[in-house]
Amino acid sequence: MTYKFSDRVPDPKNDAVGDILKAAADPKVTSFAGGLPAPELFPVQGVKAAADKVLDEKGPAALQYGSAQGVPELRNVILKRLEVEGIHTTADHVMVATGSQQSIDLTGKMFLDEGDVVIVEKPTYLTAVDVFRSYGARFVGVDMDEDGMKMDSLEEALKNNPRARLIYTVPTFQNPTGRTMTLERRKKLVELADKYDVMVLEDNPYGAIRWEGENLPSLKSLDKTGHVIYMGTMSKIFSPGLRLGWVVAEPELLKRYTMMKQSADLHTDSFSQYVCAQYFTDNDINDHIKKITALYHKREQLMMKAIDKYFPKGVQHSNPQGGMFLWVMVPGVKDSKELFDAALKRNVAVVPGDPFYGSDPVPGTFRMNYSNTPEDGIVDGVKQLAAALDEVMAVPADK
Ligand SMILES: Cc1ncc(COP(=O)(O)O)c(C=O)c1O
Repeated sequence: MTYKFSDRVPDPKNDAVGDILKAAADPKVTSFAGGLPAPELFPVQGVKAAADKVLDEKGPAALQYGSAQGVPELRNVILKRLEVEGIHTTADHVMVATGSQQSIDLTGKMFLDEGDVVIVEKPTYLTAVDVFRSYGARFVGVDMDEDGMKMDSLEEALKNNPRARLIYTVPTFQNPTGRTMTLERRKKLVELADKYDVMVLEDNPYGAIRWEGENLPSLKSLDKTGHVIYMGTMSKIFSPGLRLGWVVAEPELLKRYTMMKQSADLHTDSFSQYVCAQYFTDNDINDHIKKITALYHKREQLMMKAIDKYFPKGVQHSNPQGGMFLWVMVPGVKDSKELFDAALKRNVAVVPGDPFYGSDPVPGTFRMNYSNTPEDGIVDGVKQLAAALDEVMAVPADK
């Protein structure tokens, strides 16, 4: 049978990342490839207690259909978290989503027609690329340095692309680079969005996990004109399995988000929402975030020290002050997949850079994750990776 798919449907033959993660899941392999939180910190007992309480006190409501905008108790919890980001808003600006992945999807659906342009960091979060591509988007990548997206390149992109509909950015501890946009650039970005009248999707899953430097205001908190849509998630500070995220936008937009969500999944799992709200009421989430931050910092330091000791000269990397990832740039390598293959031969996995680029991938790049590898695997994994880099860098670039 030959199926007649729509243009939107991806071809499983092109699932390079799926193939990489499959290879990385082999128990022999030390994987720096995934993007998972450390499971040993999931607050299992606290969630169990919260779930019992919800079932005892609000069982029928928690098991019933609910509103597309989300359970009021959870939206109040979210409002408190937003205060930390400097976003002082009201419940009519907040919708609960099924993870921030759904917020990205609904945003693509809301703003993009075939051939529209999405401006993204170079590199950017790869699953956002997949989503926007499914809505027919073209990508324009904006160069970055350690201070995030370069604003002169952003303005150039806005000038040259009248069909730009969206700037998608992860300004803090970006996936995949771990880089953070400076305050000056944040202000400029918001100013440019207003000047060129382009919407901004600010994606902030990692901002709370900071071990160094000062908290910076979100783009949303700097936005005076309603151009910024903000997305947050419980995935990295609490649990990704409960699939809880949120969108913050002007009420006029939020009403549309809510209608589109309703047609996508009616609403996010009511039980998860009640349990999460109960957990946040009975526990201090900031204490929990401190534990996550301390563990990831320890792992990141171990990885950085090993990288500085073993990686060949000339290899560059980002220097995250928080989050879960770092980005590596290897000079003279034409094919990032070669790096992956050489590493896998030594039972180490990373994600080669290509899928993180909306267009024009930069070869010789890859992402490393440190949150999900126990300490005893990190140093040896980096040593093996260093040997793989030695091998790949020894091959002349024109071969
Ligand atoms: C930048 C970014 N955005 C969104 C997501 C999706 O997160 P979730 O749907 O679990 O909230 C991720 C997950 O890793 C991410 O790194």
